[in-house]
Amino acid sequence: MGKRRVTSGMRPTGSMHLGNLHGALDNWVRLQNDYDCFFFIVDWHALTTPGGGDAVGYENVGKLRENAVEMAIDWVAAGLDPGKCAIFIQSHVKEVAELHLLFSMITPLGWLERNPTYKEMVLGYKIEHPSYGLLGYPTLQAADILAYKGEFVPVGKDQEAHVNMTRDLAQRFNSMFGREVFPITEVLLTEIPKVPGIDAADKKMSKSSGNYIALAHDEAATAERVRIMFTDPAKIRKNDTGHPDGCVVYAFHGFYNKAEQPLVRDECEKGLRGCVDCKKRLAERMNEALRPIRDRRRELAGNPDRIRDILLDGAGRARAAARATLDEVREAMNLPPEAGI
Ligand code: TRP
Ligand code: SF4
Repeated sequence: MGKRRVTSGMRPTGSMHLGNLHGALDNWVRLQNDYDCFFFIVDWHALTTPGGGDAVGYENVGKLRENAVEMAIDWVAAGLDPGKCAIFIQSHVKEVAELHLLFSMITPLGWLERNPTYKEMVLGYKIEHPSYGLLGYPTLQAADILAYKGEFVPVGKDQEAHVNMTRDLAQRFNSMFGREVFPITEVLLTEIPKVPGIDAADKKMSKSSGNYIALAHDEAATAERVRIMFTDPAKIRKNDTGHPDGCVVYAFHGFYNKAEQPLVRDECEKGLRGCVDCKKRLAERMNEALRPIRDRRRELAGNPDRIRDILLDGAGRARAAARATLDEVREAMNLPPEAGI
């Protein structure tokens, strides 16, 4: 039996940070061995919001291209293997736009208006005049997934509502047109570690909060960001007893220095460890672990032809899969074929 199909996408926010790496990419890298994977950079979705400042959007397209390419570089540097999965840019597969249009005809407005993520985005990005495209965000996402007949979607909890709408849409299409064209997609919820921001253990690392460490940062910038990480505010001197829970540095020892983490706790709690040294040790371990990824990243950044070939090849494979799906869709909907009317 062939491998089951996995699809997932990420918005082109530029170089990835450690939250993207450990929260999503590491998981994708594991999945590529067991599933037939399609991973794409969703440049169309980036245009659903106005953007501004660092964030790309329809009012701020200046970095859209650059961000998309940076992200592709990071994906490959982090271990996605173009020989195992299709890596491409969403908008290179026009069939997805066609499917989005057809899905938009059968997406009840109420589903979109009730979508909790829509309300969060409008509030979160302070969007005064939400666009038609933003309201249709989940319909476009459903087209992303279903154009490739994605059976599983590895995403975080925050995307569950969108995947549920994808299921509803697949079901609605299949029953409306009397054919099982689409699979009923499932979220692949895996144990995904929560990566804190450098500013607080209970905040998520994110591009928009600026509390991140990027793969594109060099070792000195990484060490500097570790130096300003939030620690136990009551621990000022080395011999003060500390509370590792709630300390961001401690949390990161868990990612990069697992073996020594119990020792870190013990010494911190007993006042045998100072924060300055604790941070130095973490920066060292972090830079060691990230070095191979950063080396590959630099190599790829210096070889634009290689990245272009990877994206072209990925888009080609994706397009072939999407074209086959669209042929079935057009037939199910009785759209007139170009030849043989
Ligand atoms: N909405 C997703 C996010 O913000 C990105 C996305 C777009 C996506 N299309 C997708 C994720 C298809 C999974 C499958 O993270
Ligand atoms: Fe955090 Fe380490 Fe300082 Fe303890 S010693 S508060 S774990 S930085």
